Amino acid sequence: MAAAVALQRTISAAVSAKALTTSERLGSAVVLIRPVIQPPFCAIRRLFDHLHANPNDAASLNAAYPKRGIFKTAAMVNKFSDQKFTIDLSPTRDSLIPQALRVSLNSHGFDDMLSFFRIAADTHVPTILSSLSQIAGTDLTLSHRQQSLNLNFRLCDYNPGTADPVSSNGCGEHTDYGTFSIIFQDGTPGLEIEAPYAPGTWIPIPGDATVVLAGWCALIMSGRRICAARHRVRRVPGVRRLSAVLFVAPDLDAKLKPTAGAPVNFSQKIMDGDISVEWFKEVMGKKWRYREGNLEFVGGEDDGVAQDDEIKRLIFG
Ligand SMILES: [Fe+2]
Repeated sequence: MAAAVALQRTISAAVSAKALTTSERLGSAVVLIRPVIQPPFCAIRRLFDHLHANPNDAASLNAAYPKRGIFKTAAMVNKFSDQKFTIDLSPTRDSLIPQALRVSLNSHGFDDMLSFFRIAADTHVPTILSSLSQIAGTDLTLSHRQQSLNLNFRLCDYNPGTADPVSSNGCGEHTDYGTFSIIFQDGTPGLEIEAPYAPGTWIPIPGDATVVLAGWCALIMSGRRICAARHRVRRVPGVRRLSAVLFVAPDLDAKLKPTAGAPVNFSQKIMDGDISVEWFKEVMGKKWRYREGNLEFVGGEDDGVAQDDEIKRLIFG
């Protein structure tokens, strides 16, 4: 993870004025790592296929976490949402799954998938947090306590069998809310990162790369020393693409504010420490679920403001 310093906002005017290599264009937004373990994509594919073919197991899985569900299939019926299916887990949600269901799902890849996430988290999270702490100039482990580590595991299935099979919208452009995310891919291209110095310029990431990108919480806590990377996923009609994403965020009760002395001009709410990570996640998550089709707008809720724009208003005032 030595390359983590590349998450800094360091593209100079001189560099951005000349023709850049792909590596230079990506340089300040993301870091590519060589992971100690690859996701069991065969098992992940089996798990998605099993849940689609067995609605009873899918319903039981979602009943374990009725607040939001775990297996999300809005794209089956909504052609305007992100055209993907997801399985969203966390250590907490995992603990809610009944043993009988777990035994049933284990023969369809569930335990292989969970083992992968546990190993990936144990190995990579401490080193990446340490690198980010150096960039941020503050010890981020103080707000990412080991005993309450705020982790989420997501499996994505960019499956051609959605409501709009020819849509190229796998995942709409957005910035993750947390500290950082590790995106593992199955070799299929589709992930794109927005060049931080050139909004609207989307840079394709090789399908076999494992990507670390930072989110809003890292940008705020580091006083903008860490750059949050906007990204999206484009689909190719007829091509199935799988990914596994490990999200790391600060403790839910942590205050979302920059380190003392950071040279920034955030909104008063942020500077005063009025916003908790939990509240921020709730605000952010709502638009996230609209985009993904897992929540419908009710009267007056759709203000037409994109998710990232709403967050910018909150952070920068
Ligand atoms: Fe994301």
